[in-house]
Amino acid sequence: MTAERFRIGLLGHGTVGSAFDELLAQRAGHVEAITGLRPEISGVLTRSAGDFDEILAGCELVVELIGGLDPARDYVLRAMRAGRHVVTANKQLLSQHGEQLWATAREHDVQLRFEAAVAGVVPVIRVLQESLAGAHVERLHGIVNGTTNYILSEMARSGCSYDEALAGAQRLGYAEADPSEDVNGKDAAAKMAILARLAFDTPVHLDQVSYDGIEQITADDMAYAQELGLGLKLIGTAERIDGGLAVSVHPAFLYAGHPLASVHGPFNAVTVESEAITEITMSGPGAGGPQTASAVLGDVISAMIPPASTPETTQSLALVDDVESSFYLHMEVADRPGVLARVAQVLGDHGASIKSVVQKGLGENARLVMVVHPVLESRLFAAVEQIAALDFLRSPPRAIRVIDEQFV
Ligand SMILES: NC(=O)c1ccc[n+]([C@@H]2O[C@H](COP(=O)([O-])OP(=O)(O)OC[C@H]3O[C@@H](n4cnc5c(N)ncnc54)[C@H](OP(=O)(O)O)[C@@H]3O)[C@@H](O)[C@H]2O)c1
Repeated sequence: MTAERFRIGLLGHGTVGSAFDELLAQRAGHVEAITGLRPEISGVLTRSAGDFDEILAGCELVVELIGGLDPARDYVLRAMRAGRHVVTANKQLLSQHGEQLWATAREHDVQLRFEAAVAGVVPVIRVLQESLAGAHVERLHGIVNGTTNYILSEMARSGCSYDEALAGAQRLGYAEADPSEDVNGKDAAAKMAILARLAFDTPVHLDQVSYDGIEQITADDMAYAQELGLGLKLIGTAERIDGGLAVSVHPAFLYAGHPLASVHGPFNAVTVESEAITEITMSGPGAGGPQTASAVLGDVISAMIPPASTPETTQSLALVDDVESSFYLHMEVADRPGVLARVAQVLGDHGASIKSVVQKGLGENARLVMVVHPVLESRLFAAVEQIAALDFLRSPPRAIRVIDEQFV
């Protein structure tokens, strides 16, 4: 007996779309064994071929792998309004129009699945939505951009500069020709907005995530940090603060014991902390055609076996933008007595105290590198501004967050 067909309309046939097409052909028999339905691609839309309305009319489910906001948003909305399930890998779309899309999915009783939008094949969305649905999450930390993690890993391993590591990432296909949204933190911010929405059950828009990137990180920072026992990563953080929620992406130092400290190269990882579960870390490949296609196919199979939806938010947590953090400070200073005491005094005036310090070099090469105990970011930045104006500073100080390894 031939199984009933399950027709998939594929929007986009680039890196992920073509890998998905290939994977589906290989795994159709397996999917049929699980679901009793035989999946097939019934139509493909690219810039130069295919017609959306025809594809929609001839499918049960739409896979959106175009990326970006327009026309992807329109297609996804139209598909759901026409009663089709949708699977997408589009983090831009979900981090900016997620609430509208999830509401439309609920209204039309269809599934909108998006595992591949965050951390590639690492099943973090499913774990937050299903396995940890009963946990009261206190904090998430994520390495959710493989390009930057590769660059920072290379800088730490070989002592090379940021520009050299970026060029290497481009040669190996880990970075786009235009890597701006990866290296400036925006790509990671979009993913953190989606994770925070799910973990804290509150609406989070990309605009509410503060972010900065890794373009200013120097080989020097990496070398000094290693002396202080620290490793540098681009870390996304979402955490409950005084009844609200703070979501951000920044370069941050980690002590060697932190589960994310050992995530190297283009890998992604997410750590979830809650009182009941202590800490769970998931890690794996964050991108790549075949890897991402595998997450997309997992979503397609889940959508073939209902039900699942992203419920309406039940919380409306205030988004907090001033949080306490420990900091690494790097200062190029004139080689003269009293410099450390003066810096310590300015920090003390702003409520910041020094945890550890390294003084290096002489004359033109004199540097003062330290880690300060947790302090409100606004206070630390006020102190840094005052330190920058001191006459013995040879260039503006650099301040980078340090994440302590205590779990909730
Ligand atoms: N690449 C990865 O490793 C990765 C990892 C995780 C998530 N993602 C996400 O997966 C999605 C797809 O990424 P990708 O790397 O596969 O992109 P891509 O290689 O640039 O492919 C995009 C596809 O969409 C088509 N397209 C673009 N604009 C269109 C339009 N206006 N109308 C119809 N078709 C259009 C393109 O058509 P043409 O073929 O005619 O150019 C192409 O086939 C994005 O949301 C991305 O963020 C990618």
